[in-house]
Amino acid sequence: LSPHITLNDGNTIPRLGLGVWRLADAEAPKLIAEAIDAGYRHIDTAQAYQNEGGVGQGLKNTKVRRRDIWVTSKLQTSLQGYDSTLRAFDQTMSKLGLDQLDLFLVHWPAPARDQYVATWKAFIELQQQGRIRSIGVSNFLPEHLERIIGETGVTPAVNQIELHPSFQQGASRDWHNQHGIVTESYSPLGGKGTALLENPVIAGIARRLGKSPAQVIIRWHLQLDLVVLPKSSKLERAVENFNVWDFDLTENDMSAIAGLDRPDGKTLPHPNELND
Ligand code: A2P
Repeated sequence: LSPHITLNDGNTIPRLGLGVWRLADAEAPKLIAEAIDAGYRHIDTAQAYQNEGGVGQGLKNTKVRRRDIWVTSKLQTSLQGYDSTLRAFDQTMSKLGLDQLDLFLVHWPAPARDQYVATWKAFIELQQQGRIRSIGVSNFLPEHLERIIGETGVTPAVNQIELHPSFQQGASRDWHNQHGIVTESYSPLGGKGTALLENPVIAGIARRLGKSPAQVIIRWHLQLDLVVLPKSSKLERAVENFNVWDFDLTENDMSAIAGLDRPDGKTLPHPNELND
């Protein structure tokens, strides 16, 4: 399994990234630098996480070259709109201390605001100016994707959605595959407080392979050709979660995990319910 996936714009993204939702700004400089030293080459933050400053400091605290690290951020929903997006992007860049961003995402469609098409047009402009290498979205349903593609002719490189063995998002994954959009999994371990790490099917596979349940789940995402973004604010766990390149799940393992999909497995709000 190669450590990268090629996007529809030709850029190559590391398949495994560190998610930093709920990481305190003050703790970010140390954790980010240590995670990069441990092998991570992809960091996934957002304006709404309020830790872009700390993440940027962490990027400066490592010896790995800037161009070897993939940095993603996301536009805060309250700042959607053409002009406000351009201004908000400048703020992200000054907080991160970067002059080019690898990937910027529209964080939520927020259809009741009806600003996501204007926002997408600003993203296209920023990419044309060379300030963002790849542009994408998050939490978009196929109907929202259809609309931005129909109105602008530009297909997002990725859609980042909640995805884990209890909520496998088959319909969205199929739609993305048909349109050349890479699916990124957030809450890949099932989110905080879920029982997935103790699930007997996962635990059985983990025991047989001598891996942890988290490593088995992350490997499942990788073998489905997803970009996977586990988060941990503990270095030890972040290191464990990166250590997934030296084993394979069998076809039997993959189908046993496929059987864990649940219609009510979603842990976070539906995109149509979240408007700020
Ligand atoms: P913590 O930050 O305290 O380590 P996700 O949202 O990515 O699915 O993660 C769910 C939760 O699982 C996170 O809040 C994280 O908490 C915890 N976690 C992350 N990695 C591991 C791991 N390797 N083993 C156990 N728990 C983990």
